[in-house]
Amino acid sequence: MLKTNIAGIEFKNPVIAASGTFGFGREFSKYIDLSRLGGIASKGVTLKEKPGNSGIRVWETPSGLMNSIGLQNPSVATFIEKDLDYMLGLGTEVLINLGGNTLEDYVEGAKLIENTDAKIIELNISCPNIEEGGKSFGMVCNDAVTVLRAVKEVSTKKIFVKLTPNSGELVDVAVACEREGADAISMVNTFNALAIDIYRRKPVFNNITAGLSGPAIKPIALRMVRDVAKAVNIPIIGMGGICDYKDAIEFIMAGATAVEVGTYNFVNTHAMIDIIEGMEEFMKEQKISSLEEIRGII
Ligand SMILES: Cc1cc2nc3c(=O)[nH]c(=O)nc-3n(C[C@H](O)[C@H](O)[C@H](O)COP(=O)(O)O)c2cc1C
Repeated sequence: MLKTNIAGIEFKNPVIAASGTFGFGREFSKYIDLSRLGGIASKGVTLKEKPGNSGIRVWETPSGLMNSIGLQNPSVATFIEKDLDYMLGLGTEVLINLGGNTLEDYVEGAKLIENTDAKIIELNISCPNIEEGGKSFGMVCNDAVTVLRAVKEVSTKKIFVKLTPNSGELVDVAVACEREGADAISMVNTFNALAIDIYRRKPVFNNITAGLSGPAIKPIALRMVRDVAKAVNIPIIGMGGICDYKDAIEFIMAGATAVEVGTYNFVNTHAMIDIIEGMEEFMKEQKISSLEEIRGII
């Protein structure tokens, strides 16, 4: 009933764990049967190992979570050596979330992934572009297209481009990625946000700003998914604050083909299973035989 085809790949259902909130799956295997998930997006990996940011890394807000992890990860090569086989053996689709701060980071990372059995790269273009003054690659069409083109030159994997909601050109960036051959769009990453410790008279985070996720962003993410869905013909994996099956169905109605669940996994380790079961129940009750019937109806 929930089977979903994304860019020619058959997912058993459209519910995928969002990058950075699920590690490489191991921690969650104690709580849920990972083979029941539609897929898992790996923690973002980069060409070189990253120790992550210093200071406070996560901060709760009303209905949301701010984070400044700094892409802590063991490097693409170490991930491939130690974790990829584990993930590929879980009986669920694997998206390798690839980040970078230079074009070369992305290209060399993609080359390493090319020699593996992984099928999908989720290309995180929300990272700061060091060569262009630290502005995220996904902010403007040119930078987004440059990264995607360079990665596609060295990769035969399906490329799902993960967009930042912080770009004023979000729809244009999505359209440009579609034109450049993106297989799907994942959206959205976290919203740039600020928290201040009034007693220390300082920002909570050493980097001053941090990324906001969770239910607080859901209505905005949903609106953005609809905007992009009206403009592109490739599948969209929608995310941002999804907590239950109703949220997931909203994203499908806004035009998403599948969804990712991130922050809410920290609140309820069983959330994704509940969402899958809830969607099935909803479809039975509403006499919906396929998600196609309700996809993008808004
Ligand atoms: C702690 C944390 C770490 C994250 N790390 C990554 C990452 O490595 N790569 C990435 O593309 N997105 C990362 N994200 C963004 C999520 O994948 C997701 O796009 C965002 O949190 C919105 O979904 P949510 O509201 O369901 O969490 C991270 C989010 C959180 C909360």
